[in-house]
Amino acid sequence: TKLTQLTQATAAKVATLPDAQTVTAVKHWTDSLFSFRVTRPQSLRFRSGEFVMLGLLGDNGKPLLRAYSIASPAWDDELEFYSIKVQDGPLTSRLQHIQPGDEIILRTKPVGTLVHDALLPGKRVWFFATGTGFAPFASLLREPETYENYDEVIITHTCRGLADLEYGRQLIEDLQNDPLIGEMVDGKIRYYPTTTREESPRMGRITDLLKDGTVFRDLGIETISPDADRAMVCGSLDFNKDLKEILEEFGLREGANSEPGEYVVEKAFVD
Ligand code: A2P
Repeated sequence: TKLTQLTQATAAKVATLPDAQTVTAVKHWTDSLFSFRVTRPQSLRFRSGEFVMLGLLGDNGKPLLRAYSIASPAWDDELEFYSIKVQDGPLTSRLQHIQPGDEIILRTKPVGTLVHDALLPGKRVWFFATGTGFAPFASLLREPETYENYDEVIITHTCRGLADLEYGRQLIEDLQNDPLIGEMVDGKIRYYPTTTREESPRMGRITDLLKDGTVFRDLGIETISPDADRAMVCGSLDFNKDLKEILEEFGLREGANSEPGEYVVEKAFVD
């Protein structure tokens, strides 16, 4: 029948998807947040903190791709991603329904500036995230180089509510027991979660808490200095801009792959 022919045609197309990878696990954290794991293409080499293009086949038969930070470390044999669900988002309205065994499209050309290569040597590194901007840090927190390069790692995560923090909180808790890097991590990580719209032990935007000195009082740190401190920033455009200003005021300069500096910034996934 016509329908069977159509189905077969579609099946043939899916089977020959360029850069197809298979979903191995999916976890829904809230109504608007989920994480998933997929098989890793053998040809994919990346540095912890980088992102790739991934997505699904659109209704027009063309790939519908978005930039996603790889949330797993470079040594992992699978790839992990952390995503929002936007109910009318072209990609995430569909991507949120993936199941183990499904295929997604993943382009194997990793890029990005949230990498150790883009930072000059320092003593302490700050990871500043809002929302799904935590994803590249989920990779970097599991990357041995992070602990080889720095004596101290401070990860701040600002979200609206407590449930939005859960992916990051669990990941950090699990780090201590990780067979590969548990020992390296031991005592080096300071986790500083804040919420802006739900009661929690530490409330407020990290930007405000930096400006009024609350962060420094809470952590027993004098200040952020260009001699000792390095920073990576990942959140919304406004967040990145505000934090950039704060870091510049502390005397840090922006770095890039071509010219390492004292801090680097990247926009979190928005769609
Ligand atoms: P707020 O609730 O005060 O807007 P979103 O869910 O909109 O992506 O935001 C994630 C978190 O980032 C929220 O807690 C939000 O705080 C915070 N946020 C948004 N914009 C900024 C900014 N410019 N500086 C600091 N935090 C921000």
